[in-house]
Amino acid sequence: MAVSVSVRELMHKPPVVARREMTAAELARLLDGAKVGAAAVVDPEDRVIGIVTERDLLRALGTGLDVSTPVGALMSSGPITLAAADPVAVALEIFREHHFRHLPVLDQGRLVGMLSIRHLVRVAHIEEVRPAGSAPTVAPPGLEGVAVAETAIGDVRGEEGFFHYRGYDATELARRCSFEQVWHLLLMGELPDPDQLAAFHERARQGRQLAPAVLAALEPLAAVEPYAPLAALRTSLSLVATSLGLRPTLDADREEVLDAAIRLTAVAPVVLLRQYRRHRGDPPAEADPDLGYAAAYLQLLTGERPTPEAARALEQYLILTMDHGFNASTFTARVIASTGADVGAAVVGALGALSGPLHGGAPSRALDTLDAIGTPDRAEAYLREQVEHGDRLMGFGHRVYKTDDPRSTLLREVALRLGGTQAAFARDVEQTALKVLNELKPGRRLYTNVEFYAGVVMNTVGVPRDMFTPTFACSRLAGWTAAVCEQAAHNRLIRPSAIYVGPSAPRPLPAGYAYA
Ligand code: ACO
Repeated sequence: MAVSVSVRELMHKPPVVARREMTAAELARLLDGAKVGAAAVVDPEDRVIGIVTERDLLRALGTGLDVSTPVGALMSSGPITLAAADPVAVALEIFREHHFRHLPVLDQGRLVGMLSIRHLVRVAHIEEVRPAGSAPTVAPPGLEGVAVAETAIGDVRGEEGFFHYRGYDATELARRCSFEQVWHLLLMGELPDPDQLAAFHERARQGRQLAPAVLAALEPLAAVEPYAPLAALRTSLSLVATSLGLRPTLDADREEVLDAAIRLTAVAPVVLLRQYRRHRGDPPAEADPDLGYAAAYLQLLTGERPTPEAARALEQYLILTMDHGFNASTFTARVIASTGADVGAAVVGALGALSGPLHGGAPSRALDTLDAIGTPDRAEAYLREQVEHGDRLMGFGHRVYKTDDPRSTLLREVALRLGGTQAAFARDVEQTALKVLNELKPGRRLYTNVEFYAGVVMNTVGVPRDMFTPTFACSRLAGWTAAVCEQAAHNRLIRPSAIYVGPSAPRPLPAGYAYA
């Protein structure tokens, strides 16, 4: 057994939690829905007071107890618990000695997971199939807490409410720099001096150009119903990459990879917004050559040269969303780059990852909530009812940030600076939501996240709701392509392994499969 592995690395998290007063029927639904064999029972202060398992449930039902029996009558009280940092050897000893199958895991007194004997069996299984001497490493589901690469691009420190790009506080960059300066920083590794910046602007401007034949080939994508701008962008970038003749990163030198990165990032808004306008029946719009990325974005969208205030507000949003640690789409881009594929293939894959609701999300949902509330006087009743019904308030809570999301702090400022009734209303609703969450979900550390004000800012500067996620994708291209360049520069094929849990092999083929 890999005794060096800690309980934290193997446990199921977040743990499934039951209350003493829940019925057996509710418990059965809870365990079934979460596909786990046990739940920790907690009191109103979230202290673990018991553990209840499928076996308890079956035993109780087998002896004729009815489904309304409370969990309190089924659970084992005062369970033995593990500490997250315990080595699995400690857990193994407890499982052996007490014949338990599940143990709640605490970290500084707080319930953080559940360790099942099945988790340990998996480790044993890997050891069995691996050659002696090669120590197995079992990653937890979702790779949470596992570092899979080194990066010098940036990092997120959730507990501190801080994230940075190459060491610089990202919110400070968004306050003091232009999109191009930060883009240069991510891609090239340093903030540009004035000459470097001018040259970078020029390269970005040239990158917006696409051969007329390619543009013509892409436009019909806007006619495909239902029109999905993010999917159309994904398909288009694949074709653009081919038309640019991008070579596999394996065969390209650093400069060639950088060039592909700049071109794809620069051209994405051109393709996206041209298709969007075509879909609406509007003629194509050009961006004035003197405009930077954000202002050009708005002109390509609306056909009008934007006000400096609107362009700067969007620019700050775009800078704040360029990169955010080793997220799913960035990881996807790096996996694809690790095969030596071209930069286009990597960003197309990343766009696919971003399209998932668990990642790219739906920034428009927070705005939908504001619409549903309508007026400030309805906020408290509406929000309270949502939380009491077990619904989540859109734009609040974060897996990593357990304090203010620094992006939301700056975007609040940007929204209020832009002004308008929606920003003031959002501020009102935010304060009510935080009050309601604090009261109904105490101790969960729920704060405003990036999505709450992102929608307000984009809406105020004229970005339509169905373009929120595609707009986010455009800024994230700067982060993805920086990650691809980094991967290409120090490449090793990313090729993990999996634990086979199917029928034991080899299996005999059933009769009747003789090829005649
Ligand atoms: N509203 C009400 N309650 C919430 C919210 C919320 N927005 N978020 C979490 N909670 C509660 C949960 O119900 C749970 O309560 P419980 O202990 O009584 O069961 C507790 O807080 C912990 O919830 P988890 O699911 O463990 O929190 P997790 O870290 O997994 O969730 C997430 C993070 C998915 C973002 C969540 O907060 C959420 O669903 N928020 C609303 C959707 C949203 O705003 N998404 C955009 C996120 S920003 C981004 O990803 C770029």
